[in-house]
Amino acid sequence: MKISVIGTGYLGATHAVCMAELGFDVVGVDVDQSKVLRLQRGEVPFFEPGLEPLLRKHVENGRLTFSSDLQAAAGWADVHFVCVGTPQRTNALSADTSYVEQAVDGLAPHLAPGALVVGKSTVPVGTAARLRERLRAQVAPRTHADLVWNPEFLREGHALHDTLHPDRIVVGTEGDVGVATLREVYAGALESGTPFLVTGLETAELVKVAANAFLATKISFINAMSEVCEATGGDVVALAEALGHDERIGSRFLGAGLGFGGGCLPKDIRAFQARCIELGLNRSVAFLAEVDEVNQRRRARTVALAHEMLGGRVKDRRIVVLGAAFKPDSDDVRDSPALDVADQLYMRGGDVVVHDPQATEPARRRSPDLVYVDSLAEAYAGADLLLLLTEWSEFRVLDPAVVGSRVRQRKIVDGRNVLPVPEWERAGWQLRALGRGA
Ligand code: UDX
Repeated sequence: MKISVIGTGYLGATHAVCMAELGFDVVGVDVDQSKVLRLQRGEVPFFEPGLEPLLRKHVENGRLTFSSDLQAAAGWADVHFVCVGTPQRTNALSADTSYVEQAVDGLAPHLAPGALVVGKSTVPVGTAARLRERLRAQVAPRTHADLVWNPEFLREGHALHDTLHPDRIVVGTEGDVGVATLREVYAGALESGTPFLVTGLETAELVKVAANAFLATKISFINAMSEVCEATGGDVVALAEALGHDERIGSRFLGAGLGFGGGCLPKDIRAFQARCIELGLNRSVAFLAEVDEVNQRRRARTVALAHEMLGGRVKDRRIVVLGAAFKPDSDDVRDSPALDVADQLYMRGGDVVVHDPQATEPARRRSPDLVYVDSLAEAYAGADLLLLLTEWSEFRVLDPAVVGSRVRQRKIVDGRNVLPVPEWERAGWQLRALGRGA
């Protein structure tokens, strides 16, 4: 079976590499020539643990190639995975689906007989049915090419594992169109017992947005509890631990702190609200507006805490922000809470210095006015305040005595609730953490 993957961003590049790893011949297609050239040289254009060696392996053995010729790929492959982005529109909550439309339009007239187009991008419910009609209207006569939807649930930083060992495979289709083909593609995972769920197109689209809406809600729930803890003297970390022992609740995604960011959760909950409003379902997901607001308030609270700890004066104080990526093991700064807080403190006159193990370049492109330093020790030297905003493992294990000997003031905000508080306090630090009171 020959596979094409349209769009070689985060999702597409990972999917293409994993399909080659499963033994298929794969072409990754992208309109961005420079990206195609880099991938063809075996370079991953973003940071993802383990991806580059696997990319190299399959580019070198010839199983995986990259191209910008969509028409050629359309005629060559049997299965086409559409992995292009659906970003949030400027000045609107809704998602821009023009790239998925372009991909379908580019493929349809050139598809080989029996070809299957498999949408993986996250789209507003109703998009897949519309795309299927669009595809059917454009395919050559008697081609019998069709479209199904197969959402992707991968997490950045765990992309290879999540793609090769998914916790479920969802296929949205009509009847059994494409089911046998996708069972063949995912044969390895199916053999190891991965649930394979066949649904209608709409349910498949909804599984993805509903999952992200649930995860975002869980995070904002515990962050709302943080606000209550801060006002009452409670400790959100102890609270979350106790809640997590209830199997019905579970402890994952109950990490209180600076909240969620990235290319998926924020955009997906906004697009979901926009779609429900279009459908006249304003009330059904109205709570997601609150989820978004709780999330934004954590950023404002962190800025306020920095102010407070600096005695009300941020201007010209050396404020060291540890972390720029939206989460550890990623260089993605899209809607990054850490970078947002750094920007806000800079705008208030702070002398803000940022250190991130991987995300310096993407962060510099987004927030060019901040100062970035490559070495952690150089970053904290002379600091008036440290803010740990992305929980990279090297930040979790910082030695408070060593760091303490280099800073100007022993003050730190733990924005992710990952530091051992007693150890830092014993070393003479004033430590404040979100949701844990003074
Ligand atoms: C998410 C979904 O998990 C994934 O299934 C989907 O396909 C894409 O969106 P990702 O954006 O890679 O994946 O990140 P994830 O690990 O889900 O974290 C999202 C954000 O939530 C991060 O900013 C993280 O710091 C934050 N988070 C996560 C918390 O604040 N607390 C938690 O307990 C967990």
